[in-house]
Amino acid sequence: MYCDGCFGKVESGYCTLCGKKVAQPLDENQLQEHLSSLQSALYIEHIGIAVKDLVAAAAHFTRLLGTPPYKAEIVESEGVKTLFFRVGQTKIELLVATSSDSPIARFIERRGEGIHHIAIAAASAQGAYEYVKRLGVRLLNEAPKQGADGKWIFFLHPKDVHGVLMEFCSDLQN
Ligand code: CO
Repeated sequence: MYCDGCFGKVESGYCTLCGKKVAQPLDENQLQEHLSSLQSALYIEHIGIAVKDLVAAAAHFTRLLGTPPYKAEIVESEGVKTLFFRVGQTKIELLVATSSDSPIARFIERRGEGIHHIAIAAASAQGAYEYVKRLGVRLLNEAPKQGADGKWIFFLHPKDVHGVLMEFCSDLQN
């Protein structure tokens, strides 16, 4: 039997991983169902970095990574301009605010430049959305929405992810 919270093994009514008393442990089938939902998390698709000056940051990252950005895109709905660098399968996405009320402008005001979010590639953003919601994690979007780079995206509340703004994304056709 397995813990319904952390999926650790349950012995004598207690989880051997998180230590909590488990009133309704999961059986093998229920565990497998949970794990197959989790397998929709494929790899780190991109890391979003908030910057103040996109031109200066682009030149610096081009030097650091030894590769120029391959794409620039404005996401009107988010008030951001983005610039993408490829690092293997993962991308680095530089984000600059296009208006003073953009979430990126507010982020930089509060915390300065730095890592803004981590995006996980999912087989299906819709599937990942329903799964994460079932876990009781708060979401910042009412449904997956269209983001930069031809993706369905949604964000998890950082307070429910140990302070990390996490995004799940999948290609628009999925
Ligand atoms: Co993103």
